[in-house]
Amino acid sequence: MSKQFLSSIFSFNQSFRRFSYKQVKRPSLNQLKDPNEKAANDKRPKPTLNEYLRAKISSIGPLTVAEYMKASLTYCDGGYYMNKDVFGRKGDFITSPEITQIFGELVAIWLLHEWQKVGSPSPLQIVELGPGRGTMMHDVIRVLSRFGLKDLLSVHLVEVSPHLSELQAKRLCQSSEPTKDERYYHMGETSSNIPVLWYKRIEDLPNGFSIVLAHEFFDALPIHKFQKTDGKWREILVDYNVDAKKYEFVVARKETPMLKLFLSHLDLDDEREHLEYSAEGHQILEHLSLRLEQFGGFSLVIDYGHDGTMTDTFRAFKNHEQRDPLMEPGSADLTANVDFKQMRKYVGKNDRMITFGPIKQLDFMKKLGGDVRIERLKESATPDLISQLQSGYDKLIDPNDMGSIYKVFSMFPSVLRKHLSKFPPTGFD
Ligand SMILES: C[S@@+](CC[C@H](N)C(=O)[O-])C[C@H]1O[C@@H](n2cnc3c(N)ncnc32)[C@H](O)[C@@H]1O
Repeated sequence: MSKQFLSSIFSFNQSFRRFSYKQVKRPSLNQLKDPNEKAANDKRPKPTLNEYLRAKISSIGPLTVAEYMKASLTYCDGGYYMNKDVFGRKGDFITSPEITQIFGELVAIWLLHEWQKVGSPSPLQIVELGPGRGTMMHDVIRVLSRFGLKDLLSVHLVEVSPHLSELQAKRLCQSSEPTKDERYYHMGETSSNIPVLWYKRIEDLPNGFSIVLAHEFFDALPIHKFQKTDGKWREILVDYNVDAKKYEFVVARKETPMLKLFLSHLDLDDEREHLEYSAEGHQILEHLSLRLEQFGGFSLVIDYGHDGTMTDTFRAFKNHEQRDPLMEPGSADLTANVDFKQMRKYVGKNDRMITFGPIKQLDFMKKLGGDVRIERLKESATPDLISQLQSGYDKLIDPNDMGSIYKVFSMFPSVLRKHLSKFPPTGFD
């Protein structure tokens, strides 16, 4: 996503926070049931996203930022990702694979190279977390098929949005259909007969050697926010101000359960006074690292983020512009920068994974031969297409924009430590 990183604007989240004084009533279990988890045969009308958020706040008190973010993005009716196509120039943001085919092609070259270095294990599962419109996977499959891999490949997509999974199926498959299987909810086949399966959760993926791709996935996962106030850590919550008719940030008066958990992970040398933590991201990374260690494989993560330096990065984008994340939930993309330092720590637990990066997207693409590839593509392109290809590539490697903002990070099982110290992953050497 070409999102501007206006650090001055980030700080607006921190202003005008008051303490939460709200009394906590006992929740009505019926009212609070997450409609995403309702039984398929339950035909009672579902509350709208706003009704759901406000009912929750009025019965159990202010929500964590993570609860607010999760519902705003993935609530079944009105969650940002659930019912519409939000990508592209006409949408709210545009992502690298949507800008130019070179992006997905270079990712394919990278994974092909790393797969060959570890002895070309077969069969090969290519997994993507949060594939959006399916554009990157489309380019990856195209390249891998050209290298004769189609007979040993299967594609596995972890996607929570029914609408986006339909777009992905249209993009990738010649035929596809919903399934009644408990683990994968949709399946199809590409025109070159590569099976494609869709999952709601990473835990449902089949065992086996996997290459796991995640482009702009981790930034979309819900985060908790913590702030040091009068020398004490407190969680920031989201309340609804009935008089002003708007959502607003408040500071929890007491330690919340998530704060206790977070403090147990906090590095004592961390001097920041405002921190963000994605429990869902942590859980996914925990599962991913266990899976890669047990069944083999490796992972490439590309996202905007930092190495344990940023503080208040929770924000919203609509029509390519940044705006208040608490305004009209469900109408804008909510996001927070990925903390690669935390990521390294979680997957490195018990010496499970060794990691490389984060490095700048610019360096990654150049080291993978992006400059040569773009010239090759231009040789057979029409004049219109030539300038489109060049401007797309220039955008991705712009050192003042996407080239530096986006970071590339990879993880491999520790058993490969010796091998990788001699032959580091391409682009990270
Ligand atoms: C910012 S978009 C990135 C899309 C794509 N990777 C790209 O770069 O164009 C985030 C994607 O993650 C999906 N997503 C968000 N939260 C998810 C979750 N908890 N589980 C699975 N997919 C999720 C969204 O539906 C969407 O496809």
